[in-house]
Amino acid sequence: MCAAAVPVSPTSRFTLRHGAVAAGDFADDVRRGLTASRKSLPPRWFYDELGSSLFDAICFLPEYYVMRAEAEVLHAHASEICDAFGAQVRLVELGSGAARKTRILLDVLTERQRELEYVPVDVDASMLERSARELLADYPHLRITAVRADFASPSSSLAMLGPHRGRNVVLFLGSTIGNLDPDAAIAMLRDLRSALSRGDALLLGADLRKPRNVLEPAYDDPLGVTAAFNKNLLVRMNRELNADFALDRFTHRAFYNEPLGRIEMHLVSTQPQRVHLAALDLSVDFAEAETIHTESSYKHDESTLAALAQSSGFTIAHLWTDARAWFADALFVAS
Ligand code: SAH
Ligand code: AVI
Repeated sequence: MCAAAVPVSPTSRFTLRHGAVAAGDFADDVRRGLTASRKSLPPRWFYDELGSSLFDAICFLPEYYVMRAEAEVLHAHASEICDAFGAQVRLVELGSGAARKTRILLDVLTERQRELEYVPVDVDASMLERSARELLADYPHLRITAVRADFASPSSSLAMLGPHRGRNVVLFLGSTIGNLDPDAAIAMLRDLRSALSRGDALLLGADLRKPRNVLEPAYDDPLGVTAAFNKNLLVRMNRELNADFALDRFTHRAFYNEPLGRIEMHLVSTQPQRVHLAALDLSVDFAEAETIHTESSYKHDESTLAALAQSSGFTIAHLWTDARAWFADALFVAS
């Protein structure tokens, strides 16, 4: 692993560290995913500069209630949530993205602490830099140590930080935990737990189960922004792996797989075709209607959240929801 500290801003309040995301990882994942009998790609590759901007646009769609529901929870309970965090926290955020909702908590925390260290962890370095620049301008007492790393092993990111005398509080908002299959979610939470002390906390955002007629339009909007977000994976393979995917020969599909409690997103081949990825020296055949499974988004209820906590060494100290009980933020405390 490479852990070089790279100062990227004139201000001494910002540092960017690079964790274990190797340049060849994308190529390896694409080869593995497209040569499997059921084709798939890991969703973390959505988030290059364009993909992160498209996700940001998704958050403004009328159908994508997720962002607004969680913002409602945080606005309604910010003070109580920060009381539960305790004094002298260091705030780590996994999959921080634009960090818009984080501001709801920062508004309270920066009133209570003279200095606050904020540690956003994300695969997209461009988004880390953009959001840090905006946060530093608005919060003069904030210090940011950004980490470009995969959140699948948060202990590696935490190991890069200096000592801290107070409590580590980890945010994992937006229901991004839902993009991990259940076994991977437990493995990730266990790895996080191994790097925390008893009493440290995780604020976990989880989208709750709800009717199909609400869920499906959130992932298949009439404006086509989610389709563009999904197809950006093809654009990225064309650009970074010299592939020749024709974008008009694939369509976006999203549906609720109710037995598994998850939305699935796929890219569907509209015809039999062969695609070449020159950088991988690989040709891939697609049958008509064959799909690449690009993302799962698991939906939770109190029992699935309790099972997650129990299998990973946490207890749920509080659970806050919005008025419609569409989204929950749960305070997991390391037991
Ligand atoms: N937390 C924000 C953003 C959610 S979007 C919110 O609630 O709105 C998901 C974010 O996680 C993106 O910023 C993406 O770049 C990041 N991400 C996705 N997979 C990741 C991975 N495996 N490791 C680290 N970051 C990841
Ligand atoms: C980041 N993540 C929680 C989003 C979700 O809802 O699963 C990603 C997304 N995919 C399609 N729309 C939004």
